[in-house]
Amino acid sequence: MGGQEIIPFGSSFTTYVTTTNETKNMTSDEKKKLAAEAALEFVTPGCIIGVGTGSTVNYFINALAEKKKSHVEAAVSSSKASTVLLEKHGIQVLDLNSVGNLSIYVDGADESNKYLQLIKGGGGALTREKIIAAASEKFVCIADQSKLVGVLGEFPLPVEVIPMARSLIARKLTILGGKVTWRENFVTDNGNLILDVHNLKIMEPLKMETQINQWAGVVSVGIFADRPADILLLGGDNGVNSVTA
Ligand code: 5RP
Repeated sequence: MGGQEIIPFGSSFTTYVTTTNETKNMTSDEKKKLAAEAALEFVTPGCIIGVGTGSTVNYFINALAEKKKSHVEAAVSSSKASTVLLEKHGIQVLDLNSVGNLSIYVDGADESNKYLQLIKGGGGALTREKIIAAASEKFVCIADQSKLVGVLGEFPLPVEVIPMARSLIARKLTILGGKVTWRENFVTDNGNLILDVHNLKIMEPLKMETQINQWAGVVSVGIFADRPADILLLGGDNGVNSVTA
C-alpha cells in the first residue's frame, strides 16, 4: 500500500471515501484540505451546521460554500474569524441561543487519541468550540494524520482563564507537572487569556479535564474528553481515513 500508514490503535478504523494505492507526498495543508472536503458528506439538506475554528476548518468553509452551500440553512460559529469567512461566502451565522441542538458540528483538533478525546484551543477558540460540541448530535473532527497520537499532551494544553486568575491558575497547572506559558498579546473572543501547558502526558483525559475545569478562574480547558468527537477524518498521503471510537 502506498503512503504513510496510520496505526489504528485497536479502535474501529475504516478506510474512508478517497483512499488510493497511489502515494503522493502531500503537505500538511493538502492533507487538511482532503479531510475538510470529506466532511461535506455529513452535510444534509436544510441543516444548521456548527462550525469550528482553524486552518482545517477554513478549508471546510471554503469547500462548503463551493459545493454544498444550498444544503445549509445557516451556521453557528465558534469564533469571530470563522464568522467572517462564513459571512464572506454568504452563509448566514446565527446565535446558538436562537436555534435548538445542532445535527452536526465540524471542527479541527490539535491532537486526538484513539478514543477521539481531543486537545483543542491552538487557535484560542476552545470555550465556544466546547459549547457548540456539547450542543451537537454529531461532532465530525477533521485533521491531517499527524494529529492522531497515542497519548495526549505533546501539543501544549490550552486553558482559557479569567484575567485576574492568570497567576493563580498558572501555579496550579505547574503543580500538575507541566511548564506553563502565557500566550501574550492574545485575548480570546470572550475577553479572556490563554495559558499553554507544555510537557504533559495526559493519561486520564476525562479526570484532568474535570479537575482543571473545577478551579475558580478557569473558563475552560482544551481537553475534549467529556464530549469527544464522534468521527475523526484524517487526511494522509493515500487519501482520507476515518476513525470512530
Ligand atoms: C482552535 C482549534 C483548532 O481546531 C485547532 O487548533 C486545529 O487548528 P488547525 O486546523 O489550524 O490545525 O482548536 O481553537
